[in-house]
Amino acid sequence: MKISIIGAGNVGGLTAMRLFEAGFGDIVLVDVAKGLAQGKAFDLEDASSIFKYNYRIQGTDDIEAIKDSNIIIVTAGLTRKPGMTREDLLNKNAQILKDICLVIKNISGQSIVIVVTNPLDLMTYLALKITGLKSNKVFGMGVSLDTARFTNLISKELNVPNTDIEACVIGSHGEEMLPLPRFTTVKGIELTEMLEDERIKVLVKKTLERGQEIVSLLGSGSAYFAPSQAIAAIVKIIVKDEKRLIGVSAYLNGEYGIKDICIGVPCRLGKEGIEKIIEFDLNKEERSLFINSVESIHKNLELIKPFCHGL
Ligand code: 2OP
Repeated sequence: MKISIIGAGNVGGLTAMRLFEAGFGDIVLVDVAKGLAQGKAFDLEDASSIFKYNYRIQGTDDIEAIKDSNIIIVTAGLTRKPGMTREDLLNKNAQILKDICLVIKNISGQSIVIVVTNPLDLMTYLALKITGLKSNKVFGMGVSLDTARFTNLISKELNVPNTDIEACVIGSHGEEMLPLPRFTTVKGIELTEMLEDERIKVLVKKTLERGQEIVSLLGSGSAYFAPSQAIAAIVKIIVKDEKRLIGVSAYLNGEYGIKDICIGVPCRLGKEGIEKIIEFDLNKEERSLFINSVESIHKNLELIKPFCHGL
């Protein structure tokens, strides 16, 4: 198994460490900044002799090293500064993604591609269009992170362990994400029965703002511990063909009545990538919030299209 990570910043570097420690396969860490990926790879390699790992890690600034990867994780791109939305990164990151995806198309056309770069749903769509891969092979890590955040906040509010909670968030990995209290349970009991509406609303709002809250506290860069853990969870499901359900930004082709957009929905993942998109029976209010979320992505799709021209 060969797993490549493009972008060796905080998310990429930490993802490399998590995957390396899990022993899922040989890892290639790539970054355009000379020395960055190589330095981090050397550091991890040194750790491997202490823990007796047998897998190898290569760090390089040469993107051709991703050739014939089984899985490619794209974390490259600018991150938000305090006060910025994920959409503010669109133009710069779209160009970076385009260059990377053309290389993937040319030298690693059998890979599963996991997009992490923001704005997540738009970058996933772009990666899908540019690589020309099947839609089960290209998806984005977004709502599984949001789900983890919602879970954590519920756990603290109710003073119950994270492990007792099955939370659910769908929609965009952006301001219009959609935590779903009716599909969130605590030991099988609906969250709506455990907490008053007003408290749930506060938790939903905190979940939406969590990424921005962390960006503001850090001062520079965005979150990386939970994002890298969410990526590692997705990779584990694929590598071990676990067929678990997890939220990812997936291409919809009629599911939820929506076509030609990437957005966060629960999917069953396995060794081929997305095996099934799970459709919730949304009520009227949830449906209308989901459509808002779709529209928030849709309105920016036009800005992505120029990057697809001439392919
Ligand atoms: C986050 O939500 C960076 O989008 C990422 O923290």
